[in-house]
Amino acid sequence: MSLNPKFVAGLEATIAQLKADRVYKTLNYLDSPQSAHVRMEGRGEVLILSSNNYLGLCDEPSVMEAGIAGIRKYGAGTGSVRFICGTFTVHRELEQALARFVGTDASMTYVSAWNANEGLTATVVEEGDFVVSDALNHASIIDSIRLAKSITKCTTAVYKHGDLDDLVEKLKANKAAKRRLVWTDGVFSMEGSIAKLPQLLQIARDHDAVLIVDDSHATGVLGATGRGTAEHFGVLGEVDVITSTLGKAVGGAAGGFVAGPAALCDMLTQRSRPQLFSNALPPTVAASALAAVQFIEAHPERVTALHENARFFRGALVEAGLKPLDGDTPIVPIIVGETADAIRMSQMLLDEGIFVTGFGFPVVPQGTARLRCQVSAAHTRTDLEFAVRAIRSVADRVGIGR
Ligand SMILES: Cc1ncc(COP(=O)(O)O)c(C=O)c1O
Repeated sequence: MSLNPKFVAGLEATIAQLKADRVYKTLNYLDSPQSAHVRMEGRGEVLILSSNNYLGLCDEPSVMEAGIAGIRKYGAGTGSVRFICGTFTVHRELEQALARFVGTDASMTYVSAWNANEGLTATVVEEGDFVVSDALNHASIIDSIRLAKSITKCTTAVYKHGDLDDLVEKLKANKAAKRRLVWTDGVFSMEGSIAKLPQLLQIARDHDAVLIVDDSHATGVLGATGRGTAEHFGVLGEVDVITSTLGKAVGGAAGGFVAGPAALCDMLTQRSRPQLFSNALPPTVAASALAAVQFIEAHPERVTALHENARFFRGALVEAGLKPLDGDTPIVPIIVGETADAIRMSQMLLDEGIFVTGFGFPVVPQGTARLRCQVSAAHTRTDLEFAVRAIRSVADRVGIGR
């Protein structure tokens, strides 16, 4: 029997439109570990300036060896979901280590932070609850709230990005709700900006709300020892719920987690649908992630190196007459304006041996297209200086002013 021809033709027409609109994404294939430099198929060696490998742990020998030891000890697969027979001792060890690291009583891992976020809201809210979310929150939070709303009929709202007055207004308007939940990213990934956590905590307490912070771009990144946004602001242990990824600074493989009170993590085991109906994190990934947490705890100097690299790179860009967004994170966006310019610059930089992604409308607002540079502790000063010279030269050729 042949495939449904109308289905395929419809998909092909959509793809053709994406290409015509110049928003079609092509994949670059890497043939070496994720590191400061990679071997890219058809390109040779390129400098990576758009990876979440913030601490350079993707190819850290102790992290890789732990994965190999994990696969030898536990095998390749979990064979089942957690509550049937798919929970391994390494899951418990990892969850204890993650909770200790981010300053909560307990944590629960998922195969991705996407899954962790998606599973969380619908598990904890009920009809009559109110959930409010920052306008620039990650797509996984947005979808999590949409799902929770459609399952539970809870009330939801979005507050203007970082606008605490708007948040307070929305909480006041919903003071009759059974419970109030506030969702925010710790670090906003397109801006590289940090949520105003102390004020958000105060607002949450004043309005009897639960604060949930997605620290995916902050775990291993912010704070003197990499414990995240709470450590950055000196409020470790005060956030109700933290979610994060293991796919960025913490080894960069895959996986995510929810961290918070023990009763919350128990509820996630009982009720969260990705826990109940989807296999657990593969043991080799859990073992690597555990080694990554232990590495970060033993090597705060790696976090310091990341902070210093980010500061150096921002300063060097400004000295070169470029306009990076101000900030304290290793996400350094350079606003170029038009989407076409951002995409063209990203292609020209690849020709120069630098892989950095250009983001344009609709991912970011019209007129604010950008090159989003991400600095790693694995970069050398020579790498960063090379990148600044190349970005300056490409910006000159595209006509981005000094
Ligand atoms: C803020 C935030 N939350 C969640 C995720 C999803 O992480 P994962 O790759 O573990 O699903 C990301 C990844 O881009 C993110 O930036």
